[in-house]
Amino acid sequence: MADNVTLKSEMPRVSASGLDNVVAAETALSHVDGEAGRLIVAGYDVEDLVKAHDFEGAAAALWAAAGLEPAPSERQVKAALGRAREAAFALVPGLLSLNCHENVTEGLRTGLSMLADENGAGDIPAHIRVMGAAAVFTAALVRSEEKKSPVAPDAGAGHAEDFLRMLRDEPASAAEVEALNAYMVTVADHGMNASTFTARVIASTRAGTISAVVGALCALKGPLHGGAPGPVLDMLDEIGTAANIEPWLTREIAGGARLMGFGHRVYRVRDPRADVFNKAVTILTNGNERVRFAREVEVAALKALRAAKPGHRIDTNMEYYTAVLLEALGIPRDAVTSVFAMARIAGWTAHVMEQERVGRLIRPQSTYVGHWPEGEAAA
Ligand code: ACO
Repeated sequence: MADNVTLKSEMPRVSASGLDNVVAAETALSHVDGEAGRLIVAGYDVEDLVKAHDFEGAAAALWAAAGLEPAPSERQVKAALGRAREAAFALVPGLLSLNCHENVTEGLRTGLSMLADENGAGDIPAHIRVMGAAAVFTAALVRSEEKKSPVAPDAGAGHAEDFLRMLRDEPASAAEVEALNAYMVTVADHGMNASTFTARVIASTRAGTISAVVGALCALKGPLHGGAPGPVLDMLDEIGTAANIEPWLTREIAGGARLMGFGHRVYRVRDPRADVFNKAVTILTNGNERVRFAREVEVAALKALRAAKPGHRIDTNMEYYTAVLLEALGIPRDAVTSVFAMARIAGWTAHVMEQERVGRLIRPQSTYVGHWPEGEAAA
C-alpha cells in the first residue's frame, strides 16, 4: 500500500453535522451565553446597549471593537450613512428595472451585489456603503411591490427614522423610530451564527466586504435562520382563534413540523432578545389584540414542545417577537428578513474587519466516507 494512503480507521469523524460547539474564531464583538440567556455586544449587555445607543452608535461601537481606526463616532457614522443612502438611491432605478426577484429579500440580494467591492479614492467605505444601500433598496423594493415610486433619502435623518420615512413617504412617530432602533441595535451582532460565519469565510478569501455581506444575506434568508419571522406570522394567521391554538399545535407537532420562532442552537433558555422585542412591541401597540394573541400562542407552543420533546430545551427565540414587532411597524412579511439584514450588516462588516486582520484563509477539512479506488485503504 502507498505511504500516503490514509486508513479509513485513522480519519477523524465529525462529532455533529452542524459543527455544534466548534470554536471557529476569536472575536471582540459579541458573546452568547446560551445557558444564562445572556448576550453581550461590544462590551454591553444587549439590554444596556439598547438604552445607550441608537443604531448608528451600536454600529460605531462594533466597528471600534473590530479595531477600525480611527474609531468612528456615532455622529460620524450618522453623517456618512446619510451620504451612503443618497449614493445608493442613484442605483434604485437600475435595480427596479431588473424586476427579477420573487420577494424583497431576493431583490435586496440582487441590489447589494451591484455594489463594488473595491473602494475608489474618496469613496464612502464599503461597510458604510452597503449599510446605507440596504435601507434604501429595502424601502424601494417594498414600495415597488405596492406599485409606488421610491422615496429619496434624507441624509440628515437617523438611519431607522429615514428608513421608515422612505418606506411610507411620511414621517414615522417617535415611538416607532425608537422601536425600530431598539430592534436594530438588539440584532446588530450575535456570535458565530450561520450568516456571520459565512461572512467570515468569504472575508478570509479576501473577496471583499460587499461579497461577504451578499453571501451572509444568502445564509440569513433561510427559514432556520433569519427567514423565520414571515412563517411566524403565517402561523399566527393560520391558527386564527384562541380555540384553535391547541388543536393546531398538536396537529403540527405530531406531523413533525418545526414551529417557527422556537428553538435555538445556542440558547437553552429564553433568547434575551425576545424579551427586548416583546417589551418594545407592547409599548408600541399598547399590548393590542395581536400581541396578546401572540403571547397566548407562545405559552401554548412552549407547553406543547416541552411535552413532545422532553429531551430538548426548546424556548422562544428572537424571531417570534421580531415578527410581531416588525408587523406592528408596518413592514410587510416578505421584507422582514431584509430589515434584519439592514441591522446585522453592522455585525457582518465588523466580523469582516476582524477576519481580514487575522488574514488567514478559513479552510477546514472533511472526512471522506465515499468509495476508495480498488485495492486501497482497507478499513
Ligand atoms: N419546533 C419543533 N421541534 C423543534 C424545534 C421547533 N421550533 N426546534 C427544535 N426542535 C426539535 C427538533 O425537531 C429535534 O427533535 P428530534 O431530536 O426529535 O428530531 C430537536 O428539537 C433538536 O433539534 P435540532 O435541529 O438539533 O436543534 P438545532 O439546534 O439544530 O436547531 C433551530 C435550531 C434550527 C433554530 C431549530 O430550533 C428550528 O428549526 N427552529 C425553528 C426555526 C426558527 O425559529 N429559526 C430562527 C432561529 S433564530 C435565528 O437564527 C436568528
